[in-house]
Amino acid sequence: VTSPMDVLKKKNAEALLGGGQKRIDAQHKKGKLSARERIDLLLDEGTFEEIGKFVMHRCKDFGLDKEYYLGDGVVTGYGTVNGRLVYVFSQDFTVFGGALSETHAEKIVKIMDLAMKNGAPVIGLNDSGGARIQEGVVSLAGYADIFYKNTLASGVIPQISAIMGPCAGGAVYSPAITDFIMMVENTSYMFVTGPNVVKTVTHEDVTSEELGGASTHSSKSGVTHFSCANEVECINYIKQLLSYVPQNCEETAPQLPYESPANGEARPELNKIIPENPNMPYDMRDVIEHIIDENSFFEVHKNFADNIVVGFARLGGRSIGIVANQPAVLAGVLDINASTKAARFVRFCDSFNVPLLVLEDVPGFLPGTDQEWNGIISNGAKLLYAFCEATVPRITVITRKAYGGAYDVMNSKHIGADMNYAWPTAEIAVMGAKGAAEIIFKREIAEAADPEAKLQEKVDEYTRKFANPYRAAHRGYVDEVIEPSETRQKLMRAFKMLENKAATLPRKKHGNIPL
Ligand code: COA
Repeated sequence: VTSPMDVLKKKNAEALLGGGQKRIDAQHKKGKLSARERIDLLLDEGTFEEIGKFVMHRCKDFGLDKEYYLGDGVVTGYGTVNGRLVYVFSQDFTVFGGALSETHAEKIVKIMDLAMKNGAPVIGLNDSGGARIQEGVVSLAGYADIFYKNTLASGVIPQISAIMGPCAGGAVYSPAITDFIMMVENTSYMFVTGPNVVKTVTHEDVTSEELGGASTHSSKSGVTHFSCANEVECINYIKQLLSYVPQNCEETAPQLPYESPANGEARPELNKIIPENPNMPYDMRDVIEHIIDENSFFEVHKNFADNIVVGFARLGGRSIGIVANQPAVLAGVLDINASTKAARFVRFCDSFNVPLLVLEDVPGFLPGTDQEWNGIISNGAKLLYAFCEATVPRITVITRKAYGGAYDVMNSKHIGADMNYAWPTAEIAVMGAKGAAEIIFKREIAEAADPEAKLQEKVDEYTRKFANPYRAAHRGYVDEVIEPSETRQKLMRAFKMLENKAATLPRKKHGNIPL
């Protein structure tokens, strides 16, 4: 007779094996870890508590009444990452290809409900062949339940999705609603319809990797925020990301201990970054590196729309979000992709009380039919809207150009920024001096004996008047013109000064951001 203890032991052992050792070996052969190995890597050692280990599907069709696996293709539960509570689900490809059944979905929803009640992040490790085909609409209902919960949880608790295998069809929409997506290079892909359907409908020949691999989605579509060399790197990114964000929208991010060094916070290197010629590029990442705590920059969307740089960093141990124009790429113009990339980041930071730092060097919006026809107007408006709506502490430093409408958009004082600094190299104007002179002195230049000389004279006049930060400073649109070397110290003090900022928006159901 088997004792009750032995029955439990046997069931536990069975559940740990998922779809069996053979399929786990096959998973390893593909360079992938098992669902449980991933959880072990993610969570602090020995902290994982599983929920629903013995759940089984209820399907009786297509022979499934003879095929059951304890856990039903997803491992769910909670544990800690660096001592902080997180909820996790990890799809098990060894069980029906990680396909999502009614019960599989119920397990995911259960931990999402717990995460919402207890205010902690949800991390989804996705590796699934999609809806459990044998279950039909019941499995689609399961997906919809998850999408619905994802949406309700949005802005309440951080949600992070790692894609570590297939993620196709409707399955893509849960990660898409979450805050951040990470994909593993060469072993993961995401698409709404796969290469075969694409071939039938559009006659395009495309591989899964080309259509929806990590490199495609990190650079072309921007669907994924991170492209990871392998699963270990992916899990490390998740942990790093968590370190910058709070547990929920009522809290602030953890603060690391920080003491100013004896020689102070001056960063003389910053005085040498802006080239003498205002049309020469420089790398805004150098500015970032010299302002923030050493090696604390965690860049988001690194390979997408690199004319704008966004990411988390620490300043005197505090977590901040940085949005920075990148003069090294397309002169730092705002285009559709840069606007949507930055807008989404701003909204994440604002949802979760991460203060915002904007580093501005922007010559304007990118001209052209491509941009206009694809909606730079409504897409640029997303960034404008996101800044206007943000109530977290917001500080801008204008390093060089702040031209035209882009000046207004990039966290200007007028749209609610709390502190605006400018370096002496700042040019805050409607447009560059040459363009401006050509327009306003068109007739004078044309009629001059020497039009070239006249143009130069007018360019110089406009430059003297407007290509500097002082007009804006006279008005108070810029709070202070500072030496670049002082920037770190100024920002540390200003963010500390703003730490108890309380701002509210007018009462409404929700705004109508131009999507
Ligand atoms: N429902 C039920 N079972 C599924 C499944 C699904 N959606 N997707 C995969 N499986 C099962 C397979 O039958 C196979 O079972 P087995 O181990 O008993 O043989 C196992 O999962 C592994 O699948 P396999 O096709 O051998 O793996 P692969 O790595 O070669 O391919 C996919 C992976 C995801 C590309 C492929 O399985 C696939 O195309 N699945 C269907 C995708 C889909 O159309 N989903 C529904 C729309 S959302």
